[in-house]
Amino acid sequence: MIESGVQMDYRSEILRLKEERDACIVAHFYQDGEIQDIADKVGDSFDLSRYCASTDKKTIVFCGVHFMAESAKILSPEKTVLLPAIDAGCPMADMANVEDLRKLKAKYPEAAVVCYVNTTAAIKAECDICCTSSIAEKVVRSLPNKQILFLPDRNLGQYIAKKVPEKEFIFWAGFCPTHNALTTMHVKEAREAHPDALLAVHPEAPPEVVDLADFVGSTKQIIDYCTQTNAKEFIIGTEEGILHQLHKLNPGKNFYMLRYRFICPNMKKTTMELLYESLRDMKHEIILDEETIRKASLSLERMLQVK
Ligand code: 13P
Ligand code: SF4
Repeated sequence: MIESGVQMDYRSEILRLKEERDACIVAHFYQDGEIQDIADKVGDSFDLSRYCASTDKKTIVFCGVHFMAESAKILSPEKTVLLPAIDAGCPMADMANVEDLRKLKAKYPEAAVVCYVNTTAAIKAECDICCTSSIAEKVVRSLPNKQILFLPDRNLGQYIAKKVPEKEFIFWAGFCPTHNALTTMHVKEAREAHPDALLAVHPEAPPEVVDLADFVGSTKQIIDYCTQTNAKEFIIGTEEGILHQLHKLNPGKNFYMLRYRFICPNMKKTTMELLYESLRDMKHEIILDEETIRKASLSLERMLQVK
């Protein structure tokens, strides 16, 4: 972009404003590479929640989607939390609504209500405990209840249910449109094209795809797996923003996407221009009412305490 006839250097302006605002920038692994490179912390949903709960900066600029910025606000209500791309939502998070959840809770009063962190603050306020994909199994095992009402991601829920067969699961019918579009045909074609590669998949993928994977995990767990495993080739079953860290950490290895254009459109809404404008104008601030923060913080804090 040109401002006053001069090409704008977003990177140095962002770094300057960041100091001025006493801000930290956090970015999810699905963000564009240049956003990841300017961030103070890049991570999966769990790491970013933990980081936001502990930072001493006055402002958190969240390069991700809306529910993630809300979680940062819930965990640090005294801080200003900004979401540069205010229309970056998560279709899966929007698949759960409070009215239907209350009906389901009334139908299964003995069940512990476990919500994936990909939910609105209003849903988190109705739940017993949150989870991310990296600790969903631990969260479920930590609960005394036999029945688990798991929402909104049915695929993640089914993956965890197989690992914890002693519990009874009630699933919500939610899914991630980006991951749920994976099919066994994608796996067949990728395996044929790259017979020596190992397949790493996110648990938001459908069960029949997850069943064919060599490794299943959160974005960070996939990065750790590919980095620590001796193999030289990997097929990646999650959003392609993850390639940025995979290439940086593994210069001698090859990564192939499980499907063409594996993109979460909402994660790609953040740009350097929006990040700059967000810090310049202190927009777009996440505002939540005190009662929602109080209730939702219980379920997020419980998640952070699970060992
Ligand atoms: P993780 O980074 O926790 O694996 O989450 C993936 C995701 O879909 C976030 O919306
Ligand atoms: Fe939501 Fe899927 Fe995008 Fe994650 S990848 S933000 S779950 S739509």
